[in-house]
Amino acid sequence: MTKLSITINGQPHGPTDVRDDLSMNDFLREYLGMTGTKFGCGAAQCLSCAIIVDNPDGTSYTSPTCVTSAVSFDGKAIRTVEGHVKNGELSALQKAFIAHFAFQCGYCTAGFLNEGQVLLERLARTPVNRAELEQTVADALDGHLCRCTGYVKYHEAVRDVILADSKRYLVANQ
Ligand code: FES
Ligand code: FES
Repeated sequence: MTKLSITINGQPHGPTDVRDDLSMNDFLREYLGMTGTKFGCGAAQCLSCAIIVDNPDGTSYTSPTCVTSAVSFDGKAIRTVEGHVKNGELSALQKAFIAHFAFQCGYCTAGFLNEGQVLLERLARTPVNRAELEQTVADALDGHLCRCTGYVKYHEAVRDVILADSKRYLVANQ
């Protein structure tokens, strides 16, 4: 057993005694009841289980949770799908997913949402040219599998959030 202390969606958790082989996915779903993070392939192939990890320098990245131990996140700050709503209001990305009917069964949605959010935050720091946008979105969402094949809708939703706030996410004067 190892003690795990972690910040999730801005809230500190722990220290909690967890088995060294407990996956982060099981910690979230079974220990904390946070079932928004899904379990798909269990083999780091579909990214339906992906969460956001926040670095101290303000950058962020996504990580699968199915094959990653909970204790490997000790001391870290993460965000899950439950953390996107602020003051009872859906994020711009969540609204866009709904507007585009981006999901069907919804099993992959949390992973796409987290990946899209990481992309938005990256572009806010480092904007890209308009001409690079389609490829940038495609590259960011690459690796996330949707068994309902809603790839185009997800792509369009993320792209439209960026275009709706182009001063923030795109290089000016393009
Ligand atoms: S469930 Fe984790 S990558 Fe598929
Ligand atoms: S919406 Fe069903 S797996 Fe993507």
